[in-house]
Amino acid sequence: MTESILSKFDMTGKTVIITGAAGLLGKQFSIALAQAGANVVVADLAGIPAAENANEIKEMGLNAIAVEVDITDPDSTKAMVERALTAFGSVDVLVNSAALDPKFDSANILSQNVNEFETYPLSSWKQALEVNLTGMFLASQAAVLPMLEQGRGVIVNISSIYGLVGPDQRLYERPDGTRQFKPVYYSVTKAGVLGFTRYLATYYAGKNIRVNALTPGGVFNDHDAIFTAQYSARTVLGRMANLDEMNAAMLFLCSDASSYMTGSNLVVDGGWTVW
Ligand SMILES: NC(=O)c1ccc[n+]([C@@H]2O[C@H](COP(=O)([O-])OP(=O)(O)OC[C@H]3O[C@@H](n4cnc5c(N)ncnc54)[C@H](O)[C@@H]3O)[C@@H](O)[C@H]2O)c1
Repeated sequence: MTESILSKFDMTGKTVIITGAAGLLGKQFSIALAQAGANVVVADLAGIPAAENANEIKEMGLNAIAVEVDITDPDSTKAMVERALTAFGSVDVLVNSAALDPKFDSANILSQNVNEFETYPLSSWKQALEVNLTGMFLASQAAVLPMLEQGRGVIVNISSIYGLVGPDQRLYERPDGTRQFKPVYYSVTKAGVLGFTRYLATYYAGKNIRVNALTPGGVFNDHDAIFTAQYSARTVLGRMANLDEMNAAMLFLCSDASSYMTGSNLVVDGGWTVW
């Protein structure tokens, strides 16, 4: 009998490390992958929310552990991988979701010219490169070692529409003239994620380690009505993404369903980058 297509999405027995798993999307990814059967390593700098997230998954009768990690520290990323191996015996998938990602939220809306390029602090630029690029490099460097030993592995890196196209800074402008900016590092690091993905995919040619990127568009997170309307008008589908709308694409990339895909970028953006 022909195997069911659904079996290709089955993650039973596979161990997935997710960095940034206490974040808005990271939490979604960890629950979704656990629901698909994976043993999930909920890894984040924020240890308490990571532990809460792992507990929530365990209460669903699914498999998870929490690991506090600083992805900018090589000892910490190595320890994260060791914890995964000790708990579950393999590292099959690494999802690099941790990043500094400035949210356009009500806490900032009234400040004027936040993140303007001319005065953007060197220290903030360096810190963002350290987390968004060096952190991804270090987490991947640690996770590929068991993958090479096992003769298989999958890495999924999270980029952004701003890694593909420039931010439309008009979105961060209010009708009363107050404005802020999406910071320069976000575009630069998210474009870098795509280069890193292609590099690693080709570097591991013939090693059965697939490396792909997922590019989400803006996910609704209680943004105010003005921002939501301005953002939505820039998408073909006319709205922001719902919180759970990246999960199926993530499962596709992590599982055997994407077995003929590497070095690629899956864009889930409601059509933002199409026009
Ligand atoms: N939310 C969106 O609308 C959206 C859109 C496009 C792309 N993305 C990307 O998706 C990914 C996940 O987004 P999110 O909304 O969950 O972000 P988030 O800001 O909610 O979560 C990021 C997580 O990374 C963790 N983190 C930060 N520095 C760390 C470090 N040094 N070590 C370990 N963990 C660290 C934070 O503690 C946080 O839990 C990010 O790469 C983001 O850039 C998000």
